[in-house]
Order: sequence, then structure tokens, then C-alpha cells
Amino acid sequence: MRQKLIAGNWKMNGSLSANADLLSGVCAGLSQPHCEVAVCVPTPYLAQAQLALAESKLKLGAQDVSAHAAGAYTGEVSASMLLEFGVQYVIVGHSERRAYHSESDAVVAQKTLAALAAGLTPIVCVGETLEQREAGQTNDIVANQLNSVLAVISSDDVARIVVAYEPVWAIGTGKTATPSMAQEVHAFLRSQLAIKNAAAAQLVAILYGGSMKPDNAGELLGMADIDGGLIGGAALKAADFLAIIQAV
Ligand code: 13P
Repeated sequence: MRQKLIAGNWKMNGSLSANADLLSGVCAGLSQPHCEVAVCVPTPYLAQAQLALAESKLKLGAQDVSAHAAGAYTGEVSASMLLEFGVQYVIVGHSERRAYHSESDAVVAQKTLAALAAGLTPIVCVGETLEQREAGQTNDIVANQLNSVLAVISSDDVARIVVAYEPVWAIGTGKTATPSMAQEVHAFLRSQLAIKNAAAAQLVAILYGGSMKPDNAGELLGMADIDGGLIGGAALKAADFLAIIQAV
């Protein structure tokens, strides 16, 4: 059985007091989680979250990591630094970083390697724009994004990554891929993983992200190859986040 994972991506939202409320609300509703649950918080709040989650089953994640181990890289945060704050998951290649910070497939691949080398679980994000979907390029785009990562990691490490399919046109827009649309891409991504390591491909959690909410989570999560969600907006409200976890 594949591990189901619901991960919240807070993006650049939060404050000390709002985080304290959100984390205590989520923890209170999560005494015996029936799946893996993580929150990926902004870097300055890692210490706060580490402390708040110390007694909880909720795992901690970060939203980005440097491809480099240490040195003259102003503003960057290394995988070993994240590890010191109890981080277990790190998002790499989110479409917002690809779009606003010009992260190439090659950089995303190096970040994935850095995360793996430190013992973190990278959540590798892939997804097409609306223009690309309408041009019938979805599979080509997500295959290129995933394969640039698979090209640099060992076949043994395939089982150590999480993949997130996040169609760019569904992020923060209220538009979701239909469950069958998402399932089709997820199954395709699994077939790409299988070319590198067939056994591991069956173990890799492939998350869906893009306007997943309590009212559509059940249907999406019911699809054979959708193993969880990467949740943006709905992860900022404890009740919504908990309802999505409940839908697993
Ligand atoms: P929304 O859930 O707000 O659409 O964001 C999805 C996302 O980008 C998660 O990484």
C-alpha cells in the first residue's frame, strides 16, 4: 500500500500569532491521523513550527531548498539547515518558483539531489499551463519536468521522492482538474517513474495540487493514482485542512 500524504503549502502567508492558532487547531484535530500529514511553512517560521509540532504527529516541511550545500549563496537555505529544524519534507520546483524565479528543470533536479543527500523527502512539483494543456502538450511537459529529476537521481532513490501534479491553471484559481483528468496525468507520471524503477513507481506517492478543497477532495482522492494532496489556500484554515485529511 502506498503511503497517503496530505501536505499544506502555506506559501508566503502567516505571522507568529496566526501560525500559532493554525498549528494548534490542526494538531487538536489530528490526534490519530490515518495518513501522513505535513505543513510546509515559510522559512522564518520553521523554529516556531518545530516547537509547536514537537508532541504532534504532524510533520514539518519547507517550501524550497538550495541546490548548494553551503557558501556564498545570499538568501538561500541549505538542506542541512532545514534538517536542524526538524524538517522532513521539502517542496522543489513549485510552479511559482519556476515562473517567478526562473527555476529551470536542471535547477529543480539539483535541488532534489540536495534534499535527498541530506535525508529529506523532496516533493517534486510538475504541471502544465493552460496554454500547454490546450495545445495538447500536457504529457510532454510533465514528462520533461519529471525526467530531468529522474535523470540525476539513482534508481534506488526513486522510492524516496514524492511527486506533486499541480496544473498551473488550477492553482489558486478555484478551477480543479476533474478527477479523471488528474488521474490520467497521475497514471502517466507513474508510468514514467516505472521506466526508471518499476517496483519503486508503485510506492511513490503522487499528490494532486490545485484548488483542492473539502468539497472536491473526496472525489480526487478516490482515484487510483491520486495518493494525496498538496494544498494551498485550504491549508490556511484548520477546519478546511482537517476536512481534506478526513476525506483521505
Ligand atoms: P491552491 O490550493 O491554493 O490552489 O494552491 C495549490 C498549490 O500551489 C499547492 O502547492
